[in-house]
Amino acid sequence: MKPSPAQHAEIQAAVAALRRGECIGLPTETVYGLAADARDPQAVTRIFALKKRPADHPVIVHLPRSARLSEYAASVPEAARKLARAFWPGPLTLILPRAGWVPDIVTGGQKTVGLRMPAHPVAQAVLQAFGGGLAAPSANRFGRISPTRAEHVRAEFGESLPIILDGGDSEVGIESTIVDLSGPTPRILRPGMIGREAIEAVIGPLADADASPAPRVSGALDKHYAPRARLRLLPRDRLGDDGIFRVLVLGEMPGGWEGLSLPAEPVAYAHGLYAALRELDGEDGREIRVETLPEGAAWDALRDRLRRAAAGSGGES
Ligand code: TXA
Ligand code: MG
Repeated sequence: MKPSPAQHAEIQAAVAALRRGECIGLPTETVYGLAADARDPQAVTRIFALKKRPADHPVIVHLPRSARLSEYAASVPEAARKLARAFWPGPLTLILPRAGWVPDIVTGGQKTVGLRMPAHPVAQAVLQAFGGGLAAPSANRFGRISPTRAEHVRAEFGESLPIILDGGDSEVGIESTIVDLSGPTPRILRPGMIGREAIEAVIGPLADADASPAPRVSGALDKHYAPRARLRLLPRDRLGDDGIFRVLVLGEMPGGWEGLSLPAEPVAYAHGLYAALRELDGEDGREIRVETLPEGAAWDALRDRLRRAAAGSGGES
């Protein structure tokens, strides 16, 4: 799907804003990003201010299709090239040793940089026209649910973010898989819809997640991706009939309950999850009861997000 002529004009305006050092709301296939010029430390500082995110957390640099990894990374191991060939453009972020010029504010002062080539046609159109990398975390306030629609980004930032490009529903629906290739053995820092098996099929066995001290990854904080209301994970037979709550169930919605259902299939579930959580997170603060997910590796990233959402829910984050 190519951007329409009307979108083309909006993309030009967005690129002009980026050149002035401003932030924009950018659609990607995973979630919407809050993007700024990765070469401009002042522009990236504005991202942190808008998100109210601690300034020592690194952000991912999004690359145009034409970019070369060696522009951004001091060294590029063969495994990184293989993963980029297999999965880019797409929902995979590679952590590599940073090139010397990459600003500290982008890397959180670490010796590594996170790189991703998004597949969304609007994101790629912006990146190509801009002609450089864009630093972009998810376009939500720190600790909150990532946005998968332009209206979610508007709800997070209102008038403080004048330009939000509308690229429709994010197709994947949860954040990219992050693979750290800066150490001796590659490992997953954040699970995503590109699963461990798919990655190991390309580069061989990965290290266990906790094999060495992890660099700072805010997506790895125990409390993250959280609604305002309390969120609890419960098996279907314990979702309960007590109290006032809304449910998020798998498959068919049982009669008599208020809430939403998502398909009992991981790709479709991921696509709908964050919009569903935002909808269930009502003004009345009613508890959200989410049906426990099935076993199996295909659900790993979703189990991870819901566990953190539960930990951070209820205004305790
Ligand atoms: O799908 C995604 O990755 C979305 C879209 C917008 O691309 N972005 C996203 O960004 O989820 P953010 O900032 O919400 O999460 C990025 C994660 C953070 O947990 C951050 O700490 C980690 O990537 N990260 C970035 N650079 C890193 C680095 N050099 N080393 C370790 N972790 C890094
Ligand atoms: Mg985020």
